[in-house]
Amino acid sequence: MRIDGQTILVSGGSSGLGAATARRFLAQGASIIIADLASPDTSLTDDYQTRIFYQPTNVTLDEDVRSLIAEGQNRLGPLRGAVTCAGIAHAERVVGRDGAASLDAFRKVIEVNLIGTFNVARLAAKAIAKQEPMEDGERGAIVMTASIAAFDGQIGQSAYSASKGGVAALALPLARDLAKHGIRVNAIAPGVFETPMFAGVSDEIRASLIQQIPFPHRLGHADEFAALAQQIIENVMLNGATIRLDGALRMGAK
Ligand SMILES: NC(=O)c1ccc[n+]([C@@H]2O[C@H](COP(=O)([O-])OP(=O)(O)OC[C@H]3O[C@@H](n4cnc5c(N)ncnc54)[C@H](O)[C@@H]3O)[C@@H](O)[C@H]2O)c1
Repeated sequence: MRIDGQTILVSGGSSGLGAATARRFLAQGASIIIADLASPDTSLTDDYQTRIFYQPTNVTLDEDVRSLIAEGQNRLGPLRGAVTCAGIAHAERVVGRDGAASLDAFRKVIEVNLIGTFNVARLAAKAIAKQEPMEDGERGAIVMTASIAAFDGQIGQSAYSASKGGVAALALPLARDLAKHGIRVNAIAPGVFETPMFAGVSDEIRASLIQQIPFPHRLGHADEFAALAQQIIENVMLNGATIRLDGALRMGAK
């Protein structure tokens, strides 16, 4: 499916990987519905006033996402795709100086990263399933954001890794479920990317991670993530996969 002229929802589209995806897709002629707690940058909304729609949305809430999709389609046209980037980071050892890890924090990370992703995917799929089929019977495509922490979880990453492992595990069953509607589902598992989320990582961890990346020996640029999201949406043979985007990084224990 070409993204030019299509309406695509981007969750977490106000920052980092999601904002880069929104910017790239808008530049290629798509219309973008942003699902985020925070407003998108005014540079984006000023440049593309007629092709961008935002209302404050918590991805974990059924009513927020339903209302966003309904209003977004009214303004921009039938939904054809979704890229889910909304997420939060959390690091805590299972047993630390203050005792056992917080159960509330674990729940929150699962709620936002895994349940929020599923909530957006299921409601986007419901809308996309109503659209007219295109070439090959395709109606649309969904790209979810996992992480290489799904596979190489480091010390302190139990909650984050579990949430992202859940997202990676969703790709195949969602693709199988939605095949009869002509909707493809894939996930991207990014390595380490230069975004506001990664800016919160300590200098020590940052240096250690960069040192472990074989090539290219640097953090990823957000537009490199957006370019893969575009390819996944455009390439009809990609389905049910979780694709690592990490410069061959295999994270060590720390
Ligand atoms: N940056 C990296 O190195 C990296 C690596 C692997 C995976 N990821 C994943 O990529 C995704 C994007 O990360 P990023 O680095 O761009 O982070 P970011 O913090 O820059 O952006 C995340 C966005 O999600 C939004 N958000 C958080 N909770 C939300 C909620 N409940 N409802 C709606 N919006 C919410 C935030 O407001 C923010 O705009 C996340 O899922 C993250 O886990 C990032």
